[in-house]
Amino acid sequence: MSNNEILFETVPNAEWWRSSVIYQIYPRSFADGNGDGMGDLKGITDRIPALAALGIDAIWCSPFFKSPQKDAGYDVSDYKDIDPLFGNLVDFDNLVSACRKFGIKVIVDLVPNHSSDQHELFQAALKAPEGSPERGMYIFRDGKGKNGDLPPNNWPSVFGGNAWTRIANPDGTPGQWYLHIFDSTQPDFDWTNPAVLDMFDDVLRFWLDRGAAGFRIDVAHGMMKRVGLPDTKVIDTTMGGAKTEAEMTLEELEEMNPYWGQPEVHPVIRRWREVVDEYDDRLMAAEAWIMPLSRMAQWVRPDEYHQAFNFGFLECPWDKASLHKVVTESLKEFGAVGAPSTWVLSNHDVIRHATRFAYEPGTLPPQGDGIGPEFAQPDEALGLRRARAASAFMFALPGGAYMYQGEELGLPEHTSLGGAYRQDPTFFRTNGERVGRDGCRVPLPWESKVNESNGFSTTGESWLPQPSSYARYARDLQEGVAGSTLELYKRMLKVRKELSLGAGNFKWAPEYQDESTLAYINNGVLVLSNIGGEPVVIPAGEILVTTQHDLTIEGELEHDQTVWIKL
Ligand code: GLC
Repeated sequence: MSNNEILFETVPNAEWWRSSVIYQIYPRSFADGNGDGMGDLKGITDRIPALAALGIDAIWCSPFFKSPQKDAGYDVSDYKDIDPLFGNLVDFDNLVSACRKFGIKVIVDLVPNHSSDQHELFQAALKAPEGSPERGMYIFRDGKGKNGDLPPNNWPSVFGGNAWTRIANPDGTPGQWYLHIFDSTQPDFDWTNPAVLDMFDDVLRFWLDRGAAGFRIDVAHGMMKRVGLPDTKVIDTTMGGAKTEAEMTLEELEEMNPYWGQPEVHPVIRRWREVVDEYDDRLMAAEAWIMPLSRMAQWVRPDEYHQAFNFGFLECPWDKASLHKVVTESLKEFGAVGAPSTWVLSNHDVIRHATRFAYEPGTLPPQGDGIGPEFAQPDEALGLRRARAASAFMFALPGGAYMYQGEELGLPEHTSLGGAYRQDPTFFRTNGERVGRDGCRVPLPWESKVNESNGFSTTGESWLPQPSSYARYARDLQEGVAGSTLELYKRMLKVRKELSLGAGNFKWAPEYQDESTLAYINNGVLVLSNIGGEPVVIPAGEILVTTQHDLTIEGELEHDQTVWIKL
């Protein structure tokens, strides 16, 4: 491949999602509208003007459906209603209309791999006899060994422990086992059962009719299991495992993953695509932890999902060669099936990138395990500096960009949250050995020091405490302040839109690079990142965006900084 090859070309009259910036809201932590310390739909609605000012195109809200909240709402007990914690359906309608005023779309999180154990279908399955249609909605199997005392296979739960739980029959005798790839309160549906498909068609239509712009599909990689449920060869209890999935061979991945990325899921995706295509302009974005990217790309062929989260990019260290490789691969692999690549650095399952990048590659626990007070604490300033540089590297790339609430403030992970506050099932299923994901889910600081929650709620209540540093990152301290992370994000999103960078023509620009800098050109904008090296001279041209607010050395780009230049 010649280094100057155009890797991405503008698609004429492209759909909005090919170049959009979608902002992920974690409802319980975004903004609290009723003072009870739990974020809610009203809180989101009240703060929509702030998101409009940021310049995003859509919000994706993590689940707000009825749920016992055993996995923060990813355990749904009613797919067509709102949990009272977050409000009600009228609040959802209000949110959609508030967004519409600003041209912001609302994307809903669909959780099809599993329901809550409190869902009426699972409750019915528990009461029904073996082999009944009720049991057939989920994955029940007889146990192995004497009296069926052993689980049907060796699959681990992502959150630790094993993936099977034995039920008691209505008469109290030990019964069959059910599969739960996540917590025991999250039984997996049987997606080979047509009744499950019918039920979800109805759920899709319900939210599309209510004005949802589409869906983020939770655990899209897990819905189908390999026929016969064979044992896994490698016990992998983490998201990604000790060796990252990107580092494994296809064969290793196949052996490890009889429950991830099974090709039998494609007809389901196509069926959903037909439903979604009955409506104008809607989107399905898959959470599909499928590596390598060439395999992930099969999930976004023209009649399947519109997008898949680019976890290859998310897992990429702040390292020149790795970034070059993953961007090249992403544009090629997704491009080969006619899909836009997506770009994402943070979400509610991973360590915030402002903290992640403070650590050298290979020194962090696997994604999803989190950082606790016992772990080496990060250099916050270095993490933030690299995070800003990485975000500026990302937002000028062509394709769909995702951002996670609070990254526009440069928020770090809460790395010293005590065990008493932990809520992630991972913490409990591993006896605290893996602290889990609460550190990236801490409520947002809006107005510094107005109360203990920095304006997250009116009362100062907050379901997780913020670290003391959050007072410094509050939105009101950054609003209108030159060089703040918030103003950097606003500027990037504005320029990205004005110059159509999300739909631009991309090529690497080796002529602008030295040892530790990486450069590309998109629609006439040169993006130059200095990845940890000595200062370099900034090429001539108008500086459109810079992460280096105070140029300490005139005309030079220092380490871990990024600049956008109009050539
Ligand atoms: C996805 C969600 C995660 C959740 C899991 C089970 O990975 O992003 O938060 O715990 O699915 O639904």
